Amino acid sequence: MWPPIDLIAAEPREQPAPRYAGPLRDSFGRRINYLRISLTDACNLRCVYCMPEEMRFRPRAELLSDDEMLAIVRVAASLGVTKIRLTGGEPTIRPGVVELVRAIVATPGIEQVAMTTNGLLLAELAEPLARAGLRGLNVSVDTLDATKFRRITRWGDLRRVWDGIAAAEAARIQPLKLNAVVTAGFNEDEVVPLARLSIARPWHIRFIELMPLGSVADFQQEAVVSSQQTRALIEAELGPLYPVAGHDGSDPARPYRLAGAQGQIGFISTVTEPFCAGCNRFRLTADGKLRLCLLRDREVDLLTPLRNGCTIGELNDIVRNAVWHKPWGHGLPEGEIPQIRLMSQIGG
Ligand code: 5AD
Ligand code: SF4
Repeated sequence: MWPPIDLIAAEPREQPAPRYAGPLRDSFGRRINYLRISLTDACNLRCVYCMPEEMRFRPRAELLSDDEMLAIVRVAASLGVTKIRLTGGEPTIRPGVVELVRAIVATPGIEQVAMTTNGLLLAELAEPLARAGLRGLNVSVDTLDATKFRRITRWGDLRRVWDGIAAAEAARIQPLKLNAVVTAGFNEDEVVPLARLSIARPWHIRFIELMPLGSVADFQQEAVVSSQQTRALIEAELGPLYPVAGHDGSDPARPYRLAGAQGQIGFISTVTEPFCAGCNRFRLTADGKLRLCLLRDREVDLLTPLRNGCTIGELNDIVRNAVWHKPWGHGLPEGEIPQIRLMSQIGG
């Protein structure tokens, strides 16, 4: 991967954030209270739009330990972060994931801990995760067709994902959201069957525009299906989609409902309709870097200061300063494609 991750820190030093009291804010006045944590860059699938088949993962020693991660969570919570989402790679393959969830849930100030997963291991893990306090699961399912699923994921078994979703329902983890990345030539014809699921189920079915990152960017750019196209496919078959009132501006998914449906349909239109003004989030990568925007390569290293024995006060200042310098928005419209990581190394 180029450039090597260690070189990222070699960027010009910025002015420190001004001293301000209270919860995290950035220089544009956005309140930042949502941290997404990638538990591992590794995955038990190799989705074609996410990573190359021969993908290599980081050795364990380069990843944050549980204690290091929890120290960062405590600092984030003390700075006003209330919501955490655990991502990957595939978060459920991290050893000790249930205990880690329990510890994050128990952190004073943290109100909600959710997870985004490919669902393969949920059949065994949904119940223990629910008991550990997990509230909210997003499961990635791009198709209801087992053969297409295998083609997209390179070897995934769709039945296991369905068993996982059933286990999440049985464990009463709510809300339950299904994420589908719409990829031309792979699953445009699956958006109608997926959308239909929202009629009988109280699930949120969300269609995500393919985003370009790193070495997979050429493929990704050619395979983008806009939310507008996806919506037209759904409405042509299932009737009009009605906007759901009370949309939370920090939720990237714009919510709709089919007539009489129990669940919702959402569109995440990062490429065609950026939602940066409402952004309330930042990310922690499994190797201990704060990533301030999903689609910008600017990162701030926390792993090195932690391993050099920095104090909690110092960690506080680094996090506050990093968030203050969160970029306004991504540069996709100007053709700026993030290079240093693939999606699996950030966690979506
Ligand atoms: N663009 C958009 N979404 C992506 N995901 C993985 N790669 C991409 C991409 N290039 C999705 C996964 C999962 C979430 C974490 O991100 O399907 O739902
Ligand atoms: Fe794994 Fe998710 Fe990437 Fe698929 S999209 S390879 S499940 S991290």
